[in-house]
Formats: sequence, structure tokens, C-alpha cells
Amino acid sequence: MVAQLLLAASLAGGVVASLYGESNLNHTCVLSQPLLSCSPPTLVANVSKSIDTCCVETFGGLFLSTQFWDTYTGLESQGQKLPADSWTLHGLWPDFCNGSYTQYCDLNRQYDPTPSPNTTNGLPNGTAVPAYKGAPVSTFLTALGKLDLLAFMNKFWINQGAPNTDFWGHEFSKHATCFSTFDVPCYGPLYVQHQEVAEFYETAIKYYQRLPTWGWLTQAGIRPSNTTSYSLSDIQTALTKGYGKLPYIACSGPAYNTTAAGKGSTDAGKIYLSETWYYFYAYGRPQDGQWAPQNASVSNSPVTNCATSKGAVQYLERTASSLQ
Ligand SMILES: *[C@@H]1O[C@H](CO)[C@@H](O)[C@H](O)[C@H]1NC(C)=O
Ligand SMILES: *[C@@H]1O[C@H](CO)[C@@H](O)[C@H](O)[C@H]1NC(C)=O
Ligand SMILES: *[C@@H]1O[C@H](CO)[C@@H](O)[C@H](O)[C@H]1NC(C)=O
Ligand SMILES: *[C@@H]1O[C@H](CO)[C@@H](O)[C@H](O)[C@H]1NC(C)=O
Ligand SMILES: *[C@@H]1O[C@H](CO)[C@@H](O)[C@H](O)[C@H]1NC(C)=O
Ligand SMILES: *[C@@H]1O[C@H](CO)[C@@H](O)[C@H](O)[C@H]1NC(C)=O
Ligand SMILES: *[C@@H]1O[C@H](CO)[C@@H](O)[C@H](O)[C@H]1NC(C)=O
Ligand SMILES: *[C@@H]1O[C@H](CO)[C@@H](O)[C@H](O)[C@H]1NC(C)=O
Repeated sequence: MVAQLLLAASLAGGVVASLYGESNLNHTCVLSQPLLSCSPPTLVANVSKSIDTCCVETFGGLFLSTQFWDTYTGLESQGQKLPADSWTLHGLWPDFCNGSYTQYCDLNRQYDPTPSPNTTNGLPNGTAVPAYKGAPVSTFLTALGKLDLLAFMNKFWINQGAPNTDFWGHEFSKHATCFSTFDVPCYGPLYVQHQEVAEFYETAIKYYQRLPTWGWLTQAGIRPSNTTSYSLSDIQTALTKGYGKLPYIACSGPAYNTTAAGKGSTDAGKIYLSETWYYFYAYGRPQDGQWAPQNASVSNSPVTNCATSKGAVQYLERTASSLQ
């Protein structure tokens, strides 16, 4: 943890334009071998001359494609609602191969109106991440003519308590700037401003579309209900059957043993199913979508924070007026 934080601080201290100072000559990645992220010799970010960091993820090569299960948005009155029969997209994150991570790696590309955390290392001694006051990232997509992408994002990439575009800005600046493959020079001499922002969103969507959490749970008879509860192990079995590997499963709400049902138990896991994080490595650029799914335990981290007692987890039904 400490080393990770120091690295974050040293990176942000320089306000780097790219993580490895790549040239902005053409990077035609199809011409290089599609190395698997987190495998030698990229294992320790070995930036030898033989590796083009634009063509294989060299900085954070353990990816997480993450989704939310929310029951409301808080901005329903403004038309910001949830898609029926679908989990929503949270993001695409690049952890280091050992499971730790850093964030806000390029403050020149800070588009997050409400940085969280507000320093690069999350501590008072980190570099401040200034709140973004410019035009929302949705306008970047409009300027690029990506109206279909924008429409998809407004349907499936939903924020809670603030406009969707703020969340997209947050995801880009906190996470995408910590991928070597989204470094601006990687886009070569004909780079168009914000091209990599759109490509990051497209890449996040590429993985999201392969991960039908709703469908995998439905196939196992696990449907949102405010009157039934489920066992975490059944949710894990259903998602492992779909994905091939065990995802991290997150819950929110109270600890089971603070509820009436769990009184007297030592199970302090939370009870409302709220997120799934699918781990994988990628061959070549993550943009290209060639992945190798991994168990959420790959870096020895816990695989859930949910209650593990039989029948302790609730998959809450959405409020009807919160649906699109
Ligand atoms: C994890 O990997 C990163 C990147 O290689 C490194 O900076 C950090 O020190 C490592 N953390 C631990 C706890 O080994
Ligand atoms: C790199 O791309 C630019 C713009 O397309 C082109 O003019 C140039 O010839 C390319 N260089 C090489 C070495 O391919
Ligand atoms: C780094 O790359 C060099 C050159 O390819 C290789 O000799 C060396 O063993 C690599 N180091 C690690 C730790 O992978
Ligand atoms: C920042 O604070 C943390 C915790 O107080 C400390 O461990 C770390 O060494 C400090 N980092 C720097 C760069 O001063
Ligand atoms: C970050 O937020 C904390 C808590 O709200 C605040 O005390 C601190 O001044 C903020 N730091 C910066 C650099 O904005
Ligand atoms: C994932 O890892 C956990 C903990 O190591 C293990 O119990 C589980 O069987 C693994 N699941 C799969 C599908 O590989
Ligand atoms: C819940 O369980 C934890 C142990 O996992 C225990 O420390 C805590 O005191 C328990 N809380 C209640 C309210 O029983
Ligand atoms: C289910 O419960 C949640 C949490 O109390 C609530 O927000 C939601 O509106 C309920 N759904 C229905 C369909 O009653």
C-alpha cells in the first residue's frame, strides 16, 4: 500500500503527459506481438526497447470491468433513470499486477468535477486533484460526432446523485489516465483532441457488453425481489458459470448481524447486492478486446464483502418510477 501511494505521488508530482514518454510517431500495434498484460517481461513494467507501451498495457495490467446494481438514481425528475433488466456500467480499471492501484495519473487530463479522493494518494500530503470546471465530457463526444455512443452511455452508464457526464469524467480521469495504452502519444501524428477519451468509453463498453450479469443471475432463478433473499454462494455459482471465473461481488447496506434476521451471528458482511467486478488480463491493447478472465482472488484479495450466511443477501427490486 505504501509503495503504491508513493508511486502515485511521484507520478502526479511531475504532471506527466504520458506514463512512459512514448513518441507520437505511429504505433501500429497490429505489427507487434500481442503480449499478455502482467506476464513477463511486462510483469514488473519492464519497459525495454522491445516493448511498445502503447501496444501492451504496461502500467496497470490487471483489469476490472465493473458494474452497479442500483435501485434509484436520485435524478429521476431530470429523466436520469435506470435501464430495465440490466446492471449498469461502472468502469474499466487498471490495477497493478499485484492488485494495488493508483489514480489520477495525468492531471493535464483532469475532467472530474468532483475528484474522489481529492488528492492523488488519498492522503493530505498527496498532490491536490483540482475540481474540473470545464465543459462536460459529453461535449467531447458531441464534438467527435459520437452521438450513438453518447446515447448508449446515457442508457447504461448511470450516475447516482449527479449527472451521468460527471461520472464519465470521473472514470476517465481517475482510471483511464493510468493505462499506458490510452496515453496521448499512442494515437500518433494525426491525434484528434479527446480521441482517447471516446476510445476509453468504447473499450469499457466492449467488456461490459460481454458481461450480462442480469441474464446470468436470471438463468439461475436469481431475480430482484424485495421479499426473497439469496445465498451469496448461489450468486457466486451463477456468475462463475457465466464468466468462467469468480468475480468480486460487493454488497452495501447494513451488516447482516445488525439486522433482525442476523441477530446473534458473527457474520458482519453487508446484505444488499450492489456491484460485480470482473477481473482479467488482456493480450495487446485492452482496446482490442482479447482478454483472459481471472479469478477475483488472483492478487490474493478478498472475493466479496457480502454476508456469507445462508439466505442473507437481498437483490433489491428497483423502484418502478426509476426505470427508463
Ligand atoms: C505493486 O506493484 C506496483 C507497480 O509495479 C509497485 O509500485 C508497488 O510497490 C507494488 N506494491 C506492493 C505492495 O508490492
Ligand atoms: C505515420 O502516420 C502519418 C499520418 O498518417 C503518415 O504521414 C506517416 O507517413 C506515417 N509514418 C510511418 C513511418 O508510417
Ligand atoms: C526485462 O527485459 C530485459 C530485456 O528484454 C530482460 O533481459 C530482463 O530479464 C527483463 N526483466 C524482467 C524482470 O522481466
Ligand atoms: C504521506 O503520509 C503518509 C501517511 O501519513 C506517509 O506514510 C507517507 O510517507 C507520506 N508521503 C509523503 C510523500 O510525504
Ligand atoms: C480534500 O478533502 C478534505 C475533506 O473534505 C479537505 O479537508 C481537504 O482540504 C481537501 N484537500 C484538497 C487538496 O482539496
Ligand atoms: C476462485 O478462487 C477462490 C479463492 O481462491 C476459490 O475458492 C474458488 O474456487 C476459485 N473459483 C474459480 C471459479 O476458479
Ligand atoms: C458482528 O460480527 C462481528 C464479527 O464478525 C463482531 O465483531 C460484531 O460485534 C458483531 N456485531 C453485532 C451487532 O453482533
Ligand atoms: C425495494 O426496496 C428498495 C429499498 O427499500 C426500494 O428503494 C424499492 O423502491 C423497492 N422496490 C419496490 C418495487 O418496491
